[in-house]
Order: sequence, then C-alpha cells, then structure tokens
Amino acid sequence: MKLLVCCFLAITCVLVDADKGERLLKLTEVIKELKALNRTVKHNSVMSNTPSMDMEECCSQSALECFRAMVPHLKAKNKMLQRKVMKNLNNQLILGSLDSCSQEEKEKTVCQGCDSYPKDSQECVQQLESLLQKAISRLA
Ligand SMILES: *[C@@H]1O[C@H](CO)[C@@H](O)[C@H](O)[C@H]1NC(C)=O
Repeated sequence: MKLLVCCFLAITCVLVDADKGERLLKLTEVIKELKALNRTVKHNSVMSNTPSMDMEECCSQSALECFRAMVPHLKAKNKMLQRKVMKNLNNQLILGSLDSCSQEEKEKTVCQGCDSYPKDSQECVQQLESLLQKAISRLA
C-alpha cells in the first residue's frame, strides 16, 4: 500500500512538473496528425449546424476518452495515421494538459456519457480539435 501511494505521488509529480513546452509540442503534433487524418476520412454526413457541446470544465478528460473511442470508427484511408492519432490521444502529456481540476472536483462532476456526443464524424473531429486547441490556450 505504502509503495502504491509512493508510486502515485511520484507519477503525479512527474505529470505536474512536465515541461509546458513538451505538452505544447505533443498537443500541436496531435492536432497536425488529426488534421492530416481528417483529410483521408470519408465523412458520414455533411456538417449540420450542431452547436458545439457545452462541456463542463472538469469533463475534458472524459470528453477526450469519448472522442478517442470514435477515432477507430472513422472511415479513414490512412490506417497508420489513424492508429498514431489514437496512440497519441492516450499520451499522458495530452491527458495532463486538458484540465486543472483536482481528483475531488472530477468526482463531484457528472459528465455526459459518450452517447451524447455527436455521431457525425466531421463534427467529432471538429470538436476534438477544439478540445485540443483549448488545452493549448490553457498552456499559454
Ligand atoms: C475535416 O475535413 C472536412 C472536409 O472533408 C473539412 O470540412 C473540415 O473542416 C475538416 N475538419 C478539421 C477539424 O480539420
């Protein structure tokens, strides 16, 4: 148990200390990949004017999980890039830059389930990108 707590603290410290520049680099990289991937995707519909989701501040990580889950379902020609985007969205640097909510705050917040996120592929890519852009602006 003690060892576990130690490990947890060490990991937390590493995450907190992670260089902003490193996060910025990773976020920029994923956005670039996402845009490149998007160009090879055959979207399932024309963009409807769905209003962008009003996300709770502490729900960014849960939103990212939902978006990541939809990436494999995109009809992308470039499968390699698709896997790369999925892998990168799982990166701790990305997760760590999404919000500044404490574990306690997160537990108090009820986030929308993945089902309530848009099914439109183009809309999904769009919102995923703005989620990542928001993380970048938070670093600035
Ligand atoms: C994705 O590609 C479509 C065209 O297929 C484009 O209209 C849309 O803006 C792109 N989205 C992003 C986030 O680049």
